Amino acid sequence: MSTGRLENIPEQCEYYIGNVYDEEILTQLEKYHFEAIIHIAGQSSGEVSFEDPVYDFNTNAMSTLLLLQFAKRKGIQKFIYASSMSVYGDHEEELVDELSLTVPKSFYAVGKLASENYMRIFSSYGIQTTALRFFNVYGIGQNMDNLKQGMFSIYLAQGIDNHHILVKGSKDRFRDFVYIDDVVDGVLFAMNRTDGAPFEVFNISTGKKKTVEELVTTIQEQLPWDVTVEYVEGTPGDQHGIYGDNQKAKELLQWEPEVDFEEGSAKMIRWALERRRK
Ligand SMILES: NC(=O)c1ccc[n+]([C@@H]2O[C@H](COP(=O)([O-])OP(=O)(O)OC[C@H]3O[C@@H](n4cnc5c(N)ncnc54)[C@H](O)[C@@H]3O)[C@@H](O)[C@H]2O)c1
Repeated sequence: MSTGRLENIPEQCEYYIGNVYDEEILTQLEKYHFEAIIHIAGQSSGEVSFEDPVYDFNTNAMSTLLLLQFAKRKGIQKFIYASSMSVYGDHEEELVDELSLTVPKSFYAVGKLASENYMRIFSSYGIQTTALRFFNVYGIGQNMDNLKQGMFSIYLAQGIDNHHILVKGSKDRFRDFVYIDDVVDGVLFAMNRTDGAPFEVFNISTGKKKTVEELVTTIQEQLPWDVTVEYVEGTPGDQHGIYGDNQKAKELLQWEPEVDFEEGSAKMIRWALERRRK
């Protein structure tokens, strides 16, 4: 519950609240049979990973190792993981695919890449493991109070609450924004993948880039009041920009994004304004 909310847990779910790198919590789950583990818990800010690299390691890498050991012990067949585009770092060739070099720039990205490698090794024990490299996820339901994670939600929250957006870093940086519903589909398609490979990595991306300036302009244009913008120095380990080739996910998962940036951003902004009025 560090950044999560109880009301986001669907009613039909049984849940245990605990720390994902605390082995004790796993002992409470021993009594169940699971078809799959979808591991999405973790702290997701590159900035926080520099403030506390050990905490970051524990939530993003140690947690994966413990859950994989649990999966092996329990004979769980499938393991799906929320990895990140940050594992790539920055590249001269800005369009990256799953064979591009991984050069993490933050401790957060190191933890994500370590998790992928634990998964690769554990796949030899008969667990089908799938790492989904999410690009910049945004959309309805995003945490609007966490100002250290989520480029879209941070700028939008500032635009709504302060009528002023403080951008840490250059306006020329860019991201590949992928809508939450498409990301959820990516996870479900990965659950059902049939290619038979013990371990796979997929970009969950749109293959399109949007600059920080374009994002800020979209927010300015759609909010019903004037919003000023200020650019200051960037945060450590921030990527300038890459965008993701999604051909592999299209071919092997039959997944492809359905919500484009225009539709997704309009939905997100409408939702955030509505939420603020309540
Ligand atoms: N949002 C993105 O753009 C993006 C991109 C790439 C990867 N990811 C990954 O996707 C996953 C979900 O991210 P999100 O954007 O929904 O973030 P979020 O902060 O909204 O959700 C993370 C969830 O994990 C929980 N959590 C954090 N540390 C925990 C711990 N030690 N034990 C148990 N629970 C813990 C939080 O309370 C929250 O419910 C993360 O693993 C993140 O690294 C997200």
